[in-house]
Amino acid sequence: MSGVGIARDDRACAAHGATEGLFTPLRLRDVVLRNRVVVSPMQMYSASGDGLVGDWHLVHLGRFALGGAGLVVIEATAVSPEGRSTLHDNGLWNDAHADALRRITDFLRANGAASAIQLQHAGFKASSQAPWDGFGPLLEADAKRGERPWQALGPTTRGWSASRPAVRAIGERERSHLLGCYRHASRLAVRAGFDAIELHAAHGYLLHSFLSPLSNTRDDAWGGDFDRRMRLPLEIVRTVRDEWPAGRPLLVRLSSVDGVDIGWTLDDSIAFARRLKAEGVDVIDCSSGGMNLPTKAQLVPRAPGFQVPFAHAIRQHAGVRTMAVGLVRTPEQANAIVAGGAADLVALAREHLWNPNWAVQAAQALGSDPEWRLWPRAFGWWLARRERARG
Ligand SMILES: Cc1cc2nc3c(=O)[nH]c(=O)nc-3n(C[C@H](O)[C@H](O)[C@H](O)COP(=O)(O)O)c2cc1C
Repeated sequence: MSGVGIARDDRACAAHGATEGLFTPLRLRDVVLRNRVVVSPMQMYSASGDGLVGDWHLVHLGRFALGGAGLVVIEATAVSPEGRSTLHDNGLWNDAHADALRRITDFLRANGAASAIQLQHAGFKASSQAPWDGFGPLLEADAKRGERPWQALGPTTRGWSASRPAVRAIGERERSHLLGCYRHASRLAVRAGFDAIELHAAHGYLLHSFLSPLSNTRDDAWGGDFDRRMRLPLEIVRTVRDEWPAGRPLLVRLSSVDGVDIGWTLDDSIAFARRLKAEGVDVIDCSSGGMNLPTKAQLVPRAPGFQVPFAHAIRQHAGVRTMAVGLVRTPEQANAIVAGGAADLVALAREHLWNPNWAVQAAQALGSDPEWRLWPRAFGWWLARRERARG
């Protein structure tokens, strides 16, 4: 696969000893990102009831390519029907899903942005209501409005929280089905034209629930100590890497910590990131949280850039590229993350919903696009004149 949206080559920058910043291109295997601005995956709960994306998704996601982002990560997309968190999650388990997504990846590429698909199994958070319906577990009452609950899976029979129904503990049959689903979805991601896959191993969903000692209390080969808790997630990583073309990057999103001094720790993330790197993972996307914590335990306090130190530590100690995410708002803040070596990529979620032109405007603010080249030509020509007229 050829590079996408090559503005300047990253090797040329390195040769001239230039400092890397938000608008320095980045090569990941055969894919060249035009800059380090990433649209963080955001579930829209807006697919058809059988997981298909439509025109709405094309316009929503396509807008981010016109807005200058280097990489657009398409939301958590289930590898199987039961792996959805809600009925209207995106799916990638059949050819029709891949062909519908292909329109989006073609549009993104034609407009300079690379695309990634976040592959997901919701585990014990499956069978949920949409946020605007309460975000609780689907109940028989929801069936009356066409949303039937289904059997969720987890490391044990315990539900995500005490108020959620028990789930089915994954056994050998489910495990081999799961590996088959991830393999099939990876193959479909090629058909759909994605440049990258991101595996969702964060936020309390299936892979995270196997990693965390808070949820994985099994005492067999897939639970117990650190090595056994990593086992299923690593099998999935290996399966996807094996199916996914060697020239295309694989990213993994982690909950870097479960909370403050509880459960999965930053040291665990560093050790796991080393293993992921050895398995051919190119970037660790460093989020946090998503487990239902015992009372009195705390999530990481929310402050600007609160997860950036995780990306920094994992980058430094595991020697792997990282993506920082979470309450990054201003161009200066995002640029400092890359220039200061805390992360290689910066993902923004809500800022992009607020302003799909975040990247092109950041490039203006940082003086990185004096010729208005990051803007679509049909906008930039006019906007340059608008700027001159403003004096
Ligand atoms: C509407 C919405 C949907 C989200 N869906 C996902 C998702 O599909 N996968 C995921 O890993 N994170 C998801 N997130 C989390 C974001 O990717 C991001 O990590 C978080 O919002 C923090 O970044 P921000 O402060 O820039 O919004 C979602 C966030 C929002 C606001």
